[in-house]
Amino acid sequence: MDSFLIEGGVVLRGDVNISGSKNAVLPIMAATLLTAETCVIRRVPDLSDVRFMGKILESIGAEVQFEDHTLTIRAANVRGFGDYDLIRKMRGSICILGPLLARLREATVSLPGGCVIGTRPIDLHLKAIAALGAELRVAGGYVHAKAPRLDGALVFLGGRAGPTVLGTANLLMAATLADGVTVIESAACEPEIIDLADFLKAMGANIHGAGSPTITVTGVKELHGAEHEVIPDRIEAGTFAVAAAATGGSVTLRGARPDHLGAVLDKLQESGVRIERSAGALTVRGNGVLRPVDATTMPYSGFPTDMQAQLMALMCLAPGTSIITERIFESRFMHASELMRLGADIAIEGPSAIVKGGRPLSGAPVMASDLRASAALVVAGMAAGGTTQVNRVYHLDRGYEKMEEKLERLGARISRVPGE
Ligand code: UD1
Repeated sequence: MDSFLIEGGVVLRGDVNISGSKNAVLPIMAATLLTAETCVIRRVPDLSDVRFMGKILESIGAEVQFEDHTLTIRAANVRGFGDYDLIRKMRGSICILGPLLARLREATVSLPGGCVIGTRPIDLHLKAIAALGAELRVAGGYVHAKAPRLDGALVFLGGRAGPTVLGTANLLMAATLADGVTVIESAACEPEIIDLADFLKAMGANIHGAGSPTITVTGVKELHGAEHEVIPDRIEAGTFAVAAAATGGSVTLRGARPDHLGAVLDKLQESGVRIERSAGALTVRGNGVLRPVDATTMPYSGFPTDMQAQLMALMCLAPGTSIITERIFESRFMHASELMRLGADIAIEGPSAIVKGGRPLSGAPVMASDLRASAALVVAGMAAGGTTQVNRVYHLDRGYEKMEEKLERLGARISRVPGE
């Protein structure tokens, strides 16, 4: 397993191009199953999760080409049975259930896997599909769904922790080919849902209200092929913004969408970081002096859970106490103990982490436990004195395109050490 070796203490400076959004492209890839015609998706990040989703689509009969950040997918002949071993390895794969069922009226997919950040149930996905009239059976690690016809319905999708992003995506996709009108209440408002809706609309779907808590879908008889450019990755942009702030540097994020980053930029500004917005870019300037801030993760447009670990790494550098509360996933503090190996002072009290920042961090070997935790360790390693070895960076490769090369171009001393 590869690892990163980081020599800390370098101030990041320069420009970085933000790649397309991982969380937007995965459901969009699933949506190509809704038509037999060819779909072309541009600005696709070259990530292991994207290649993996491509393999899943191939395993059910789609033709997938991926070249130069463009995906061409033709799902002319698909079967409704997803490969167990492929699907259970990736959470995002659950969103093939809705489109497969809508296209074939029968689908069998295995229960999904993903990052180890909580129990991650799929009850809301199943509720959504059942509301359209599908019969569901969960047995032997598989979900079997069958629906001679799908009927539009009013579906309330709010769960214990608020709306579900991929659950909203699943229902949105299934509803495009249902008979009649589906109203999704307490829908996820994430920009990735708007991007999916834009792609579905380009395929001929009739959708109103994406990006708001109420989405209305009027079913159509069939969808056709379409072209689409994926939105920039707001979490990659946020991670580079935090890295700039943590090293007291100045980094311009090319292609980043400030309108998708409101809560993150607000917290950075509150902690003393300067943000300059210009057409098509965003510049983040740290001045070396950070103030502690409190943050609570929430559904969009609140502070994203996918930026919680990186903010915690930053707060380790801000003299004073900050409280970071995780309200979306219950086990998402695995990075705290690894940050403590670098010298951070963090106490976990229920859903909150109390960070006493300002102690100097010093390099150490650390273990990446999930995608965003890994990013937090890279940020902390760049701000720490000496050498930090971040092990198991395959987690990072799932969601950050060539992270070490992008950081190196900003001046970081970072290298990939190939593992067995
Ligand atoms: C997506 C993102 C992930 C992000 C998360 C929250 C992708 C590929 N992944 O994951 O990066 O961290 O949104 O912004 O887009 N829940 C239920 N029942 C369900 C489904 C979810 O109780 O059936 C709960 C979850 O346990 C969690 C909350 O709802 O507490 C939100 O999860 P959800 O929005 O569904 O996350 P994902 O869509 O899986």
